[in-house]
Amino acid sequence: MAAARVIDGKAIAAEVRRSVAAEVEQLKNEKGLTPGLAVVLVGEDPASQVYVRNKARQTTEAGMRSFEHRLPASTSEAELLSLIDDLNRSKDMHGILVQLPLPPQIDTRKVIEAIDPAKDVDGFHPINVGRLSAGERSLVPCTPAGCIILAKSVQPELRGLEAVVIGRSNIVGKPVAQLLLREDCTVTVAHSRTRDLPGVVRRADLVVAAVGRPEMVRGDWIKPGAIVIDVGINRVEGPDGKSRLVGDVAYEEVAQVAGAITPVPGGVGPMTIACLLKNTVAAARDQIARA
Ligand code: GUN
Repeated sequence: MAAARVIDGKAIAAEVRRSVAAEVEQLKNEKGLTPGLAVVLVGEDPASQVYVRNKARQTTEAGMRSFEHRLPASTSEAELLSLIDDLNRSKDMHGILVQLPLPPQIDTRKVIEAIDPAKDVDGFHPINVGRLSAGERSLVPCTPAGCIILAKSVQPELRGLEAVVIGRSNIVGKPVAQLLLREDCTVTVAHSRTRDLPGVVRRADLVVAAVGRPEMVRGDWIKPGAIVIDVGINRVEGPDGKSRLVGDVAYEEVAQVAGAITPVPGGVGPMTIACLLKNTVAAARDQIARA
């Protein structure tokens, strides 16, 4: 039997969405404003199509306006930049999200930098990245923000904890490390070149695994009672030949040792869109406050 408390990301994400919906209602009543989110999808990547559909549905369910822009895979960089320019100028659009990855003819960095930082609900613009690392108010990347909410659901005060982040990507590892620093954790960012990774992870009261390697984190890497947040979503073939989703954490083993653990699916995954909706409302609030 697993000893760890299972962190229910689905339920916590639903709670976040309810609180976003209440805030949207209040904005409508008090300011006569409905927050709007533009999602841009270039090409037909099947996983991206699923994400974009879910984003649109949850945006409308929260009472906000969703604008979808689907462009062919052959779209040029100039065409995409011109659309972003229009969205930046539009008063109805408070958040802009360009679904990644983009086709190879488009320079992703240029596109991210073209988005108005005030509307950058992904938190990927260098201005927002810089503000986050300077400890200033900013739009924060959604998956990292979700990880912090999940960790706090078991331990509301993270101050002083030893946190080990495995993975140093711009989308998860680095921003989650910044957020943990802001929570007064002692943060170590481990990665593929880290010496004695199991030894480093064993120090952690809080582990965030974001490496993209199926079931890499083993049970004997975990300090008894630690909180384990698994950001991995890996499709692997099970013993029955069917494909299934697993995280970066060997769940069954780690759950014997950890104090709390997020499952895959149903852990970090549902939090990403919930935090995107949260960012969209926050962006709308800031934009009307400055208007
Ligand atoms: N593709 C996969 N995850 C994400 C994300 O969080 N934001 C964007 N824009 N694209 C993605």
